[in-house]
Amino acid sequence: MAKTYLVTGGAGFIGSNFVLYMLHKYDDIKIVNVDLLTYAGNLENLASIESDERHVFVQADIRDAQAIAALFEKYDIDYVVNFAAESHVDRSIVDPGAFASTNVMGTVNMLNCTRAAWEREDGSYPEGKKYLQVSTDEVYGSLSIDEPDTFFREDTPINPHSPYSASKASADLFVKAYGDTYGMPVNITRCSNNYGPFQFPEKLIPLMINNAEAHRELPVYGDGLNVRDWLYVEDHCKAIDLVLSNGRVGEVYNVGGHNERPNIFIVKKIIEETSRATGDEAITEDLIKYVQDRKGHDRRYGIAPDKIKAELGWEPETRFEDGIVKTIDWYLAHKEWMEHVTSGAYLEYYNKMYGVR
Ligand code: NAD
Ligand code: DAU
Repeated sequence: MAKTYLVTGGAGFIGSNFVLYMLHKYDDIKIVNVDLLTYAGNLENLASIESDERHVFVQADIRDAQAIAALFEKYDIDYVVNFAAESHVDRSIVDPGAFASTNVMGTVNMLNCTRAAWEREDGSYPEGKKYLQVSTDEVYGSLSIDEPDTFFREDTPINPHSPYSASKASADLFVKAYGDTYGMPVNITRCSNNYGPFQFPEKLIPLMINNAEAHRELPVYGDGLNVRDWLYVEDHCKAIDLVLSNGRVGEVYNVGGHNERPNIFIVKKIIEETSRATGDEAITEDLIKYVQDRKGHDRRYGIAPDKIKAELGWEPETRFEDGIVKTIDWYLAHKEWMEHVTSGAYLEYYNKMYGVR
């Protein structure tokens, strides 16, 4: 039967990739896409589905109880997928309150509205409905680069360090509590670092591609040896689709691909591939600038995706070597998109973070 999805944050990086992936994969679904369109949300990401009647865009705040309740009244929602969040660690260090407000209180509001719409008088929920919280591996804290055989598993204790990860961990605990207390059908996915099209250039990979192309300095935090576990965004979208349809209710699923790389490796790879793709020999490692480290900088993230592999048959499909080339080619072919998102407030942000360019 045709399913109706309430997707929040679907004009952001992963959310827009998810909306496009789902509409491409399934003919008979409807997606109600709620996004506040903060600096990170961009309707251009959804331009290719502008006239697709299966997609309805609503500009609204996930903290707005009336607006969200109205959507549950208007549509018979089967699945809620909560992507909407303040997502950038550096911004959370400057303004933690915004992260508590959107990520924690926004999630609580989404849970309340979902419960009000779905819970029957006897406390049961209709078969097949599900609320999925899109979370992050950062809630587990940090691993050591000296112990490369240790990984985050679903039973690793929550131990966030940044205001961003603290807000995501807190939201996760509310989702768990709504499952435990009200019997709400919930899942939580905790994914590692994503890369791919439509990522806002405050994040490492698009920032480095954009700077390299313009011969601007490439700011590497600290010693450049912090490790992240990179996953191509479409693989994350596939995992979310699988957890929605087949994940066991109440479970947490870690999503990641044993693709751990030190930041300096990523930056050098981007230099090499951007130079190759543009034929520009001025894009060299001389652009690298080691800058002051991020406060409380987590050293290493690494996911063991054993559970999602064993239960749902999910595995990352895009090799990093292919994904990074695809990603660089995408940004080089979408300069208007980059110009659009880096105009206005971005410059102010960038200059404050890295010094006036
Ligand atoms: P993003 O910053 O690119 O997009 C967030 C979207 O949420 C934007 O479109 C923004 O307009 C919207 N939004 C923000 N506040 C809102 C509000 N109050 N109401 C409605 N919409 C609002 O983020 P992303 O990188 O696409 O991340 C999406 C989700 O995935 C987040 O929950 C994040 O914590 C999680 N996540 C991200 C990664 C990653 O590597 N990017 C990895 C794991 C998990
Ligand atoms: O692990 C999942 C998380 O990945 C998500 O939950 C977050 O929403 C997402 O932003 C991302 O967090 P990170 O902090 O890991 O990503 P970011 O791209 O900001 O940084 C990646 C690494 O690169 C990190 O070690 C910091 C470093 N870095 C980042 C920037 C922006 C630099 O060295 N220089 C930079 O200019």
